[in-house]
Amino acid sequence: MMDWTDRHCRYLHRLLSRQALLYTEMVTAPALVRGGALHLLEHSPQEHPVALQIGGSDPHELAQAARLGQQAGYDEINLNCGCPSDRVQSGTFGAVLMKSPDLVADCMAAMIAACDVEVTVKCRIGVDDQDPEIVLPAFLRAVSEAGVRRVSIHARKAWLQGLSPKENRDIPPLDYGIVQRMKAEFPHLHVSVNGGIASLDQAKAFLAAGLDGVMVGRAAYHNPADILLAADREIFGADQATTAEAAARAMLPYIEAHLEQGGRLQQVTRHMLGLFAGRPGARAWRRMLSEGAVKPGAGPELVEAALAEVEGAGATV
Ligand SMILES: Cc1cc2nc3c(=O)[nH]c(=O)nc-3n(C[C@H](O)[C@H](O)[C@H](O)COP(=O)(O)O)c2cc1C
Repeated sequence: MMDWTDRHCRYLHRLLSRQALLYTEMVTAPALVRGGALHLLEHSPQEHPVALQIGGSDPHELAQAARLGQQAGYDEINLNCGCPSDRVQSGTFGAVLMKSPDLVADCMAAMIAACDVEVTVKCRIGVDDQDPEIVLPAFLRAVSEAGVRRVSIHARKAWLQGLSPKENRDIPPLDYGIVQRMKAEFPHLHVSVNGGIASLDQAKAFLAAGLDGVMVGRAAYHNPADILLAADREIFGADQATTAEAAARAMLPYIEAHLEQGGRLQQVTRHMLGLFAGRPGARAWRRMLSEGAVKPGAGPELVEAALAEVEGAGATV
């Protein structure tokens, strides 16, 4: 998610779940290939398994971008066919590609030929006045024939005119039924559902109903403990999970290294604000980090002090 799942966020999320697959923000193929912006690919070895999401619509350029992603060490390359923002529409990436399944198939085939890691696609169920019952199977057939084996479907349309990107994540109605029908129609495809999933119970219900995966965006970001911390045990069957406190503590050396390299505390702590959401002390934690991290000279001791507040609040309940 743009501006959210940067490398600092992913480092934290990996501390919370050993097994959930993490995705980068979208990086555009032109930025990588024409702009040489290889710094956009930087990540920590601890983040694996991690997928690089790219945006673009030129098969040759996407193939080069996929190769760069593989060389940088990503475990998967994902093409964005779901983002509705104007900036992205003007470059013919994202959701507007739902109108060009043959072009997407060419893109996917070129990316698959260019690298050895898995190449996947994230899409919507359609855009504007398209009929999802016609468009989505045609889209999936085209990418499947191009060699794609795994897709994530954001179970709502994107309306390309008149809605902001944010509205496009909430206003077009969700249709989970069509995603389930697509799994039945394309049983060989690994299908993950995305959109509005707010709890692990909801995720488990989709898995029990036959879907292969569940992609959780906003809920995992705002409520990482409820989603990611519990996922290893509840979804992946691990014996034990870590704790939010342990994850916060494990961020301290990471923060120190980031500051030593000239980074700012707030770049890391902004992703940690929801770590104790719903627990005693959560408000103090959030306030201390959001107010304190922007002050000159702020360092890991701020996180330790905020953690002491949380632990103290927990002890008095
Ligand atoms: C701030 C923000 C940035 C996003 N950026 C991307 C992106 O770069 N690529 C993408 O495929 N989806 C992006 N999304 C959409 C989410 O991946 C997801 O499809 C959408 O929020 C619906 O899922 P959710 O209800 O679980 O959040 C973004 C969402 C948010 C809130």
